[in-house]
Formats: sequence, C-alpha cells, structure tokens
Amino acid sequence: MTTYGYWICNLQFDGDVYLTARDRMRGENAIKELEAEGLTPKFHLLEITDRDSVLEIKQFLMKTYGGVDAFVHNTAIAYKKSAYGMSKLGVIAFTRILSKKTKELDQVDVLTNCCSPGYVSTDMSSHKNPLTLDEGAITPTFLVKFPPNSDAPNGEFLYLKEVMKWY
Ligand SMILES: NC(=O)c1ccc[n+]([C@@H]2O[C@H](COP(=O)([O-])OP(=O)(O)OC[C@H]3O[C@@H](n4cnc5c(N)ncnc54)[C@H](OP(=O)(O)O)[C@@H]3O)[C@@H](O)[C@H]2O)c1
Repeated sequence: MTTYGYWICNLQFDGDVYLTARDRMRGENAIKELEAEGLTPKFHLLEITDRDSVLEIKQFLMKTYGGVDAFVHNTAIAYKKSAYGMSKLGVIAFTRILSKKTKELDQVDVLTNCCSPGYVSTDMSSHKNPLTLDEGAITPTFLVKFPPNSDAPNGEFLYLKEVMKWY
C-alpha cells in the first residue's frame, strides 16, 4: 500500500496505533507490510461515508480505550481539479469549525489542524510526485506528537511543520 497515510503508522508513538481501511484485505495486507518493518499497528475497518461504520469504530475505541489521543484523517476526496481545490478549502473550513466547537465545549485538550503533505508519490498521484512517503508523513506525524495540554497550533493549516496563511 502506498498512501502516505499508511506511512504515518510508521511513527514512534507511545501507545496503540490503528490503521483503518474500507477494504479488509487491503488493510490487513498493509498491516503485514508494516509488521515486516518491525512495527505493530492494529487494524480496524472504516468506511468514512458509512455512518454505521463510523459509529462502530467510535464505540469500539470508547469501549477499549475511553477515547483517542490523535486521529489522522487522510482519506482522499474528490478528484477533478476544480472540485479538488474546493474540497481542500472545505477541509480547512471544517478544521476551523471543529477547533472552535471543541473550545466551546470546553474540551481544552483537543487540537484540530490540517496539513498538506507536499507532492508525494502515492497511488493517488500515480507515483509521479517527487516526495517519498517518509517525506509526506513529516507534517502529519509532527501534528500527532504534540504533548498533552498544548494550546497551539489549533484550527490551522500547516505545510512543512509551519502554519501557512492560506487566504
Ligand atoms: N499525494 C499527494 O501528492 C498529495 C498532495 C496534497 C494533498 N494530498 C492529500 O492527502 C490525502 C491522501 O493522499 P494520498 O496521495 O495518500 O491518496 P491515496 O493514495 O488515494 O490514498 C487515500 C486513501 O484513502 C482511502 N479512502 C478513500 N475513500 C475512503 C473511504 N470512503 N473510507 C475509507 N477510506 C477511504 C483509500 O482507500 P482505498 O485503498 O480503499 O481506495 C486510500 O487508502 C488526500 O486527501 C490528498 O488529497 C495528497
């Protein structure tokens, strides 16, 4: 599997790391590849457009762990170029809304950010982009590893670990 989401599971994280996929066989094959690298990620099915699937993993995580420390949403959305740009603008707007909502709910220890991985060689880019999966995973893994009680960045869009002005 060559999405940089797969490679994010490569991070050294003090806790359980779950890789999700909507296709069990592809997900389990990805787990085997990561195990061959000496990693120990776990697998759970997730189809993000299926509400039952989303609720199922939520219940599983709440029951097993009582919550999550970090969630990386890496799913590719919309493909035609104009729609693609709008979809990314939607992700940035959604990030800002989520960060604001969590502050309102007084969930003070939750940060919500989005990032660009750069031009990464993945299935989506038909392996024509120049960056490796390792390089694409740099900013997402940087965001996952913020220590508890960090208050920034929050509601931001990052590239190469830096907050970008996108407007
Ligand atoms: N690669 C780049 O150069 C680049 C640059 C800027 C931004 N991005 C963004 O980074 C994200 C990931 O890109 P990528 O290059 O890794 O894409 P990718 O190779 O197409 O991987 C996307 C992954 O999302 C999964 N997925 C799609 N729809 C799903 C659904 N409904 N439920 C669960 N999983 C689903 C796909 O699963 P299946 O295998 O089952 O299809 C695939 O494993 C995208 O949002 C992309 O726009 C990428």
